[in-house]
Amino acid sequence: PATARLDADGVLRIGGIRVNELAAEFGTPAFVLDEADFRARCAAWRRAFAECDVYYAGKAFLCRTIARWVDEGGLNLDVCTGGELAVARSVGFPADRLLFHGNNKSVAELRAAVGYGVGRIVVDSFAEITRLAAVAAEAGVRQRVLIRVTPGVEAHTHHYVSTGQEDQKFGFSLAGGSAAEAVERVLAAAGSLELVGLHAHIGSQIFDTAGFGLAAHRLVGLLARIRDTHDLELPELDLGGGLGIAYTGEDAPLEVTDVAERLTAVVGKECAAAGLTVPRLAVEPGRAIVGSTTVTLYEVGTVKELPGLRTFVSVDGGMSDNIRTALYDARYTARLVSRTGLATTHVVTIVGRHCESGDVVAHDVPLPDDVRPGDLLAIPASGAYHRSMASNYNHVARPPVIAVRDGAARIIVRRETEDDLLRLDVDPGVKVDPGV
Ligand code: LLP
Repeated sequence: PATARLDADGVLRIGGIRVNELAAEFGTPAFVLDEADFRARCAAWRRAFAECDVYYAGKAFLCRTIARWVDEGGLNLDVCTGGELAVARSVGFPADRLLFHGNNKSVAELRAAVGYGVGRIVVDSFAEITRLAAVAAEAGVRQRVLIRVTPGVEAHTHHYVSTGQEDQKFGFSLAGGSAAEAVERVLAAAGSLELVGLHAHIGSQIFDTAGFGLAAHRLVGLLARIRDTHDLELPELDLGGGLGIAYTGEDAPLEVTDVAERLTAVVGKECAAAGLTVPRLAVEPGRAIVGSTTVTLYEVGTVKELPGLRTFVSVDGGMSDNIRTALYDARYTARLVSRTGLATTHVVTIVGRHCESGDVVAHDVPLPDDVRPGDLLAIPASGAYHRSMASNYNHVARPPVIAVRDGAARIIVRRETEDDLLRLDVDPGVKVDPGV
């Protein structure tokens, strides 16, 4: 995070607070989020994309405080479930600045969105067009919609998070013609649906703008065909999220200003060539805003040396708070942050406390040779898709999110307790005594 500093005694300070104080007060594991950094990134995106709509992608990490900061930062919010929508509603997030995504929104979710007055709903299937038209008609409103298009672009990223190519569950195929058909169907429901634009999201953790450029080229092609066929120029074009961040020194993220310049230039050029008025652009960054703002703080519990093989350093969290290593083979760095250690002569594997050997937090990271129980480790770049993808595997309570700023810390998501975990069980035959 931007405010992270190492004190002379080797203790990390974030937002002006030493992490050993944070660990003593809030326990570990914990997500420590640098509020100033989060707000600065919102501001940087707002400035770079001044003439565009910037939707923070709530799936990366959302809670009520984040929704407020996003609103205060002048960003819009992308939600993709009724649950995320409920967070937005609970803080009174302005409805017209919400965008609702999802490949299988339920009728109840569509009703909730339309009822709240969500500005835009991104339709993802023919069934959904029919459903949404009915929901909007029943509510007596004309709902603005974007059509999610699959532009046939391969983003060079892990295939689980790559979404632009044809063979996947999202959106309407451009090449296969279903996108054009979707346009027809939304226009046919003009009494209750207002088609305002197209959307594409080509993937995540992307490090160059070529894929966005190609997607923009193809989407503008479709805009031109819509104009030719329907005599209609759609006013909006949403290019999705996906900008990568640095997890390790090998990742070279793009500057948001460069991305903004390149995207607006490419869309401008394509539209000029097609004789179209340039639509209003939208982007949906998640990871690029919240990813680097947060570190996970863990306490080392055991150090196990397998001579000739490797050293396992076990921490008090694991795949329940960071599934990314197991799921995507993601790479992380780690640092001893509670003292100055000895020199580092070898790499270790940082593992969690869960009952499976795939429970790895970070592969092959250099740590001081004297790393030992009680040490605090920090894993940078844990803000996106960590807490939001956390589970209760092995009945482990999910960690809190602690916001730090100017020497003050506050809990924005509290730690789960064993009570929380037991509360969902329905077993009338047994007396619940969490004290036992
Ligand atoms: N817009 C749409 C329609 C999306 O599906 C996503 C991410 C975003 C925006 C934000 O993408 P971002 O800027 O954060 O890359 N769990 C995976 C990432 C899955 C992303 C899903 N969609 C991970 O941990 O890498």
